[in-house]
Amino acid sequence: MKSEKKQVWGSHLTHTPAEQNILFCAGRDVKSLPMADEVLLPYDIWTNRAHSIMLYQQKIISDETLVPILQGLTELEELVRDGKFALNPEKEDVHINVESFITEKYGVAVGGTMHTGRSRNDQVACDMRLYLRDACLILAKHLLEFASCLLAHAREHQKTVMPGFTHYQPGMITSWAHWVCSYVQGICRDLERVEMTFRQINRNPLGAAAAFGTSWNIDREMTTQLLGFDQVETNTLDCIVSRWENEAQLAQVYTFVMNHLSVIAQDLIFLSLPYVGMIQIDEKMVTGSSIMPQKKNPDFAEVIKSKASFAHGGLMSLLGIQKGGLSGYNRDTQLTKYLIMDIIRECEQAPVILKSVFETLHVHIDIMKQRSQEGFMNAVDVADYLARTLHLSFRECYNLLALTVKYSQHEGQISHIALQKALKESNYDVEVLPEMVSSLNDPYFVLNQRMHQGAPAPDTMPVQLEELSARLATHEAFIEQVEKQLQQAYQTCHSFQPN
Ligand code: ARG
Repeated sequence: MKSEKKQVWGSHLTHTPAEQNILFCAGRDVKSLPMADEVLLPYDIWTNRAHSIMLYQQKIISDETLVPILQGLTELEELVRDGKFALNPEKEDVHINVESFITEKYGVAVGGTMHTGRSRNDQVACDMRLYLRDACLILAKHLLEFASCLLAHAREHQKTVMPGFTHYQPGMITSWAHWVCSYVQGICRDLERVEMTFRQINRNPLGAAAAFGTSWNIDREMTTQLLGFDQVETNTLDCIVSRWENEAQLAQVYTFVMNHLSVIAQDLIFLSLPYVGMIQIDEKMVTGSSIMPQKKNPDFAEVIKSKASFAHGGLMSLLGIQKGGLSGYNRDTQLTKYLIMDIIRECEQAPVILKSVFETLHVHIDIMKQRSQEGFMNAVDVADYLARTLHLSFRECYNLLALTVKYSQHEGQISHIALQKALKESNYDVEVLPEMVSSLNDPYFVLNQRMHQGAPAPDTMPVQLEELSARLATHEAFIEQVEKQLQQAYQTCHSFQPN
């Protein structure tokens, strides 16, 4: 029978691999990139609309001029939406392409007024801010959805005990819920960074013109309203010189996000390694090999780690582009578009992919528990317990446990006999009950000793989960509020009719 699958591998899997994951991993190998100014087209149309309405309201152009401009922009917007408008490279960039579209339709007396009181310099700065704030919102939504999925996953695993590692070596017992909540806490800080970035980006540079203002009586507050910005970015020179900054700011957010996601990726690789076997990545999210028919590889995790590195490189280039440039417009900044768009394009889907991985993840609770009972991972907790009950210093008990572990090697867990031997050898004339030692060998009992704020005791995890859930709710409210603000501005701008 002829196979339906598009890639050479996959017959060994019971489930069809997720297309979204295959495409994410294949990336630029097989996908081409849109031109930077093609991405900016819808934003440039909005900028043009707002600027033209403002020129009309300020009586700089008449309604006979405004009406065809708005009509032409609507038509252009539809062509762009239907994929029927191609940028003409001879017209250099999106700004000239849009202006000539109107001029070719309605003549230079109409189209030629659109550039009154502005320059391509403030126009592109404005377009980019519109593009970047959308990118912030998309990132925030992806992070929020991933974090909510993680939180739901953690809720299921408050009692799932497992080893915690330092130096990749078993360290202390923890829970999978505690581990997963650490991801959510990091993502909450990323969300704070995205929001701060959004606020800095959402200021209006339009009206800066070439960098030094204009002699026309423009109203920058009006374009601020029409474009959904929070406020005017006042000094016109800074509006132009700071063009790299918003790009670098978002790139920096992405580098932090991607660093967080690459730690998650590495955890998934390690914990799902067949030799470790504590989790298993679902067949839908693995990728196969073109030579080894049995392979189930976590390519998505490797790709996420390299994309983190890609983002770091992009940030470094962005920082370099406007370093030591003379105040004013420099064409150097044109490249900031390519760098930030590349970072966004490469990394935007990473939280979405990880969300799918966690939604389908198989957690091997029994193996996790079994591994928590090996390797003397309760040693610190036992030392703490002895210090409290025998009123000894921590260091004395640490030394006692070091000996106890040495004498318990053949049992594989702390033995009562070994502990008594260590106590005796160290000249402590005390008796620890055998039942106490067996309780201390129960990973669940041990974990529930760590009750303080932020620690993994299953009895206190609900507090942590609630706190994280409340933090996510504030970010959700932020996204909702700004989305409404942007939609309203878009509506007002698009429904404007001259009287
Ligand atoms: N394509 C240009 C850019 O992105 C637009 C601004 C051009 N301005 C100029 N003065 N040459 O930077």
